Amino acid sequence: MQTTTAVFALAGAMYAGVFYSSVRAQQPAPAAQTPAAGAAQSVLEGVYTEEQGKRGDAVYGQECSTCHGASLEGGEMAPALAGAAFMSNWQGLTVGDLFERIRISMPDGNPGKLSRQQIADVVAFILSASKYPAGKTELPKEVEFLKQMKIEPAKPQ
Ligand code: HEC
Repeated sequence: MQTTTAVFALAGAMYAGVFYSSVRAQQPAPAAQTPAAGAAQSVLEGVYTEEQGKRGDAVYGQECSTCHGASLEGGEMAPALAGAAFMSNWQGLTVGDLFERIRISMPDGNPGKLSRQQIADVVAFILSASKYPAGKTELPKEVEFLKQMKIEPAKPQ
């Protein structure tokens, strides 16, 4: 009986040790710390550049506007990609979710046509069309980073 308790205590101590060291390993280096260290980003923080939005505008014009409308207003079948209805669909999700939705299903009838870079650019354009601010860093094309960026309602202008 006492042996069992000891084994459990030992296992517990080992578990705690492993847990503690893995938590420590995840701490960012002090130099990388910002006031928002560790917090998820938001599309309100400037997650794409103006230049990238323009590249995305060109992709959109070629690959998306026939169905989704020249001003992202939507078409007969295709929903709007800007404005209140679009926002309410995507609020609380992440830029990564939007990226994946486009990657897997768009352009309708020919998914897989766009490169990851083109998809990131077109997402930047969609954000600019919904009046999210541009920033200094381009939207990355890796989903694990994009999944850190929350879609929130744009601030009223
Ligand atoms: C041939 C017409 C067509 C083209 C081209 C097209 N789409 Fe779509 N798209 C649709 C239709 C229809 C839907 C709704 C049905 C569905 O979800 O598949 C849709 C849905 C979407 C949605 C989901 C919207 C929501 O709020 O749920 C996104 C995002 C989207 N499209 C983005 C794009 C982007 C970006 C492009 C260009 C790369 C594109 N689409 C090209 C027809 C099209």
